[in-house]
Amino acid sequence: MKISILGSTGSIGRQAVEVIQKMSGFFEVVSLCGGDNIEVIKEQIKLLNPQNVCVKTEENALKLQKEFPKINVLFGDNGLIEVASDKTNDRILVSVSGKTGLKPTLAAIENGIDVALANKETLVMAGDIVMKRAQEKGVKILPVDSEHGAIHQCLLERKEVEKLIITASGGPFRNKTVDDIKNATVEETLHHPRWNMGKKITIDSATLMNKGLEVIEAHHLFNMPYDKIQVVVHPQSIVHSAVEYVDGSVIAQLGFPSMHIPIQYTLTYPHRFEGIETRSFDFVKAGRLDFEEPDLEKFPCLKLAFEAGKQGGTLPVVMNAANEEAVYLFLNKKISLWQIYEITRKFMSEHNNIISPSLEEILETDKIVRSEVKKMFV
Ligand SMILES: NC(=O)c1ccc[n+]([C@@H]2O[C@H](COP(=O)([O-])OP(=O)(O)OC[C@H]3O[C@@H](n4cnc5c(N)ncnc54)[C@H](OP(=O)(O)O)[C@@H]3O)[C@@H](O)[C@H]2O)c1
Repeated sequence: MKISILGSTGSIGRQAVEVIQKMSGFFEVVSLCGGDNIEVIKEQIKLLNPQNVCVKTEENALKLQKEFPKINVLFGDNGLIEVASDKTNDRILVSVSGKTGLKPTLAAIENGIDVALANKETLVMAGDIVMKRAQEKGVKILPVDSEHGAIHQCLLERKEVEKLIITASGGPFRNKTVDDIKNATVEETLHHPRWNMGKKITIDSATLMNKGLEVIEAHHLFNMPYDKIQVVVHPQSIVHSAVEYVDGSVIAQLGFPSMHIPIQYTLTYPHRFEGIETRSFDFVKAGRLDFEEPDLEKFPCLKLAFEAGKQGGTLPVVMNAANEEAVYLFLNKKISLWQIYEITRKFMSEHNNIISPSLEEILETDKIVRSEVKKMFV
């Protein structure tokens, strides 16, 4: 299979490279794309010998071109779009973070290329447009998130579904008080109990905004109304998600917490192969499995996401943009963790919603909200 990775230097991207290395006969890598981490991409070029490489800045692209004269080196958002549009690919993995994922995902769809989609902002911002075009072009959108990968596997029947059950680990502050959360430091917030991920998603996991983004993604991916999507906190992260059918049967997907498995699933779907994970699942070792209701007083971002999703239009775009910019402000120690919620709520409550927005309206709304959030703290 010929594939490309957009975001190969990130947490998901590096794990995808490990999967590809382990299954070297199965994959041929067409393109690798990173952001600023030029040292990691150099190592990946030597390992996987891609035809094209894309990085964020022209300066880094020139450096790479000098060092690897036989490779076609691109840069910036246009470079990502060019890589994603390359019909040589059978499938692309979109694992860049933030809004950067949207345009390349649409470009791949327009060119009939299947997408293994890790980037959740794409569907949160423009789920209606992305899923409609994918259906029209006969393109598969294969969800990399462990929860959506689980539902994808539990839904192979796709009939008589009653509801989707999305599990959440609860993050580092599950057993803390609202005051603890209000005073949380960046270091405490980045310390996730179960998953080792990029910074943005780790902060979103601590506020449960990540679960909210996943609810919106699930709505688009599986065409499910919001009142049929339930979030359940499951601290062991063994049950990755489940589907309940109308007869009361529940099918869940289980496994030890590892992103290698869902990444491999989306890269090799519909086939399954032995992969990087050699541990066999053991119910006895897994031990007890706990489930509890999410506490919306402690984690109000989850409530915001249900509200944004249900109202639709440009409200999820506003939520996503305000949240993302607020997360960066928190990471730069300019605001508290709780202010991420307050800023997101403020922008959502002041927004004049546009129902059925065009892509241009989505991108314009995103731009305005981001610049206004930044302006508040200059
Ligand atoms: N990590 C997980 O377990 C997990 C699970 C499910 C879904 N996701 C989703 O997958 C996406 C990636 O998450 P992650 O944890 O892998 O994030 P990450 O570790 O922060 O990696 C982000 C990747 O995107 C690249 N990037 C960022 N901005 C870019 C730009 N403007 N142009 C080109 N490349 C850019 C980064 O490049 P450099 O590092 O080289 O700058 C890096 O390769 C997110 O949308 C996240 O929500 C992640």
